[in-house]
Amino acid sequence: MIDLADLEAIGGAGRARFVARVCDEREQELIALAPDPHLALWSHFAAKEAAFKVVAKLRPDTIFAHRLFHVDLTADLVLWTEFAFDLRLAVTPDYVHAVVAIVTDGCRSTVAACAAGESGSSAARRLLCGLLASSQAPGTEPITIVRDPSPGSWDGFAPPRALLAGKRLPVDVSLSHHGRFAACAVVPATAAET
Ligand SMILES: CC(C)(COP(=O)(O)OP(=O)(O)OC[C@H]1O[C@@H](n2cnc3c(N)ncnc32)[C@H](O)[C@@H]1OP(=O)(O)O)[C@@H](O)C(=O)NCCC(=O)NCCS
Repeated sequence: MIDLADLEAIGGAGRARFVARVCDEREQELIALAPDPHLALWSHFAAKEAAFKVVAKLRPDTIFAHRLFHVDLTADLVLWTEFAFDLRLAVTPDYVHAVVAIVTDGCRSTVAACAAGESGSSAARRLLCGLLASSQAPGTEPITIVRDPSPGSWDGFAPPRALLAGKRLPVDVSLSHHGRFAACAVVPATAAET
């Protein structure tokens, strides 16, 4: 699943405490030694957040503890308990975008700037509907993105699902938005987590 960090929207204040809270000792050392520690930190952070979104589907009761997600940028993996998830990271001067899945092969993702006056949430849904529609026959009904109520989850809603004519499409989807940018991903059913 995905996460996005707009590098312009991220402040630098209190970074040492933040790094210690979200990264394990090995990650902290690698970040300190990295040519660009700021980029290294946000690469680790985005990978952990994207991996949590996979775990939230596999084990919905999991409480997010960033330090328990171990990121290996050399091997393109995120390790959590007995799982080793694939990691695909895109680092640009503007943003860091992480895609994490059991298998990232066949996973399609898009990042784009939000339109003027458009919320990140709306922009991510617009991008996702566009990505999904590109593989539908012309004239098919519009795709809708829903999040079912889920009392007890961190924001009261379950992860997003894509529906066509009220039926779930056979794909897994993910949304992320931060600052100026929004992103979405589609994972084919064969590699989907649910
Ligand atoms: C879930 C979490 C990783 C989202 O990351 P974020 O950086 O805040 O926000 P992002 O923009 O990357 O992602 C938000 C989108 O992810 C999706 N999303 C939300 N919860 C999700 C989940 N559990 N799994 C997958 N996707 C989820 C939603 O579509 C949401 O967008 P929307 O609100 O516009 O619908 C983060 O907020 C988090 O840490 N949550 C857990 C908190 C927690 O466990 N607290 C424990 C004490 S209650």
